[in-house]
Amino acid sequence: MKILGIESSCDETAAAVVEDGKRVLSNVVASQIDEHRLYGGVVPEIASRRHAENIYWVVQESLLKAGCTLDDIDAVAVTYAPGLIGALLVGISFAKGLAMASDKPLIPVHHIAGHIAANYITHDDLEPPYLCLVISGGHSHIIEVRDYTHYHVIGRTRDDAAGECFDKAARVLGYEYPGGKFIDAAAKLGDPNAYRLPKPKIPGSEFDFSFSGLKTAVINTVHNAEQKGEQLRREDMAASFQKTVADTLVERTMAAAKMLGSKKLAIAGGVSANSGVRTAFEKACADRGIKLYMPELKYCGDNAAMIACQGYYDYLAGKRADESLNGIATLSLDKISE
Ligand code: KG4
Ligand code: ZN
Repeated sequence: MKILGIESSCDETAAAVVEDGKRVLSNVVASQIDEHRLYGGVVPEIASRRHAENIYWVVQESLLKAGCTLDDIDAVAVTYAPGLIGALLVGISFAKGLAMASDKPLIPVHHIAGHIAANYITHDDLEPPYLCLVISGGHSHIIEVRDYTHYHVIGRTRDDAAGECFDKAARVLGYEYPGGKFIDAAAKLGDPNAYRLPKPKIPGSEFDFSFSGLKTAVINTVHNAEQKGEQLRREDMAASFQKTVADTLVERTMAAAKMLGSKKLAIAGGVSANSGVRTAFEKACADRGIKLYMPELKYCGDNAAMIACQGYYDYLAGKRADESLNGIATLSLDKISE
């Protein structure tokens, strides 16, 4: 079964054709980041306009690269939540048009479920139940994946998401937006023990995250050094910061794995591309006899292959949408599992 996936929830216009939830026949991503970089973050109005300009050729190219026409496609899957509402609506409207005009099923896909599903593309042997840590620009969640379409969120961030924290720390260190990958590169050259940074805990919520205090600590350290005219080695700060984030993620996730007795853990989302985070999880999982699954780097960030992949499982579970499908800016995975 071939599914055309469409993703436009933030600043990537993406389309992909995936067969039986596993075989990626094409994966086209048009990033708008060069334009948003000028403003230090994603500008929703610009994102919607660029999606509207890009969506037609991105979908065309995904079909061409897959060697398909619309006739060969069995269903259209589209991200409907969560995300920037104007951005989501471009993908949703296009997907609706395609599905209605060609009389094919329309499958609504939750963006975070898509990030989780990126692991099915990479790992043939991964099957629910398992625990998944989703860390992206907008989300930090520890999720019990009960089956392919049922989730239970057991931990989440109380303030900034992990990726947001990377990007804000990167900005104060002078890196371009989005700075996560620059911190990753700089950290390789720095001393992770050069700076002691806080690892905030939330009393009574062992599995929740809070990253805003860490972000503030980096900003204050940098500003203090500037005021005193001291030289701050940004590679050292990048390495110390990255280690603190990785340790925090590992600590909370391992506590959740212990509580649930999970022996399978997946990580997903843009920040799961981070080399320090990947290494920290490899070590922690090896020490505890937990099997670790990580997406290939190209499926960590936003893409439509992950949406087509999850769309396959949603299709099998009977999820369908009609012309009334709307975008939803905020929607917990718990809500779609009821
Ligand atoms: O999953 P994603 O592409 O979009 C959302 O759904 O939010 O994640 C984007 C986030 C950005 O904050 C970006 O800086 C971060 O992922 N990111 C990284 C790395 N690559 C991307 N953070 C740390 N290290 C990386 N190598
Ligand atoms: Zn995402």
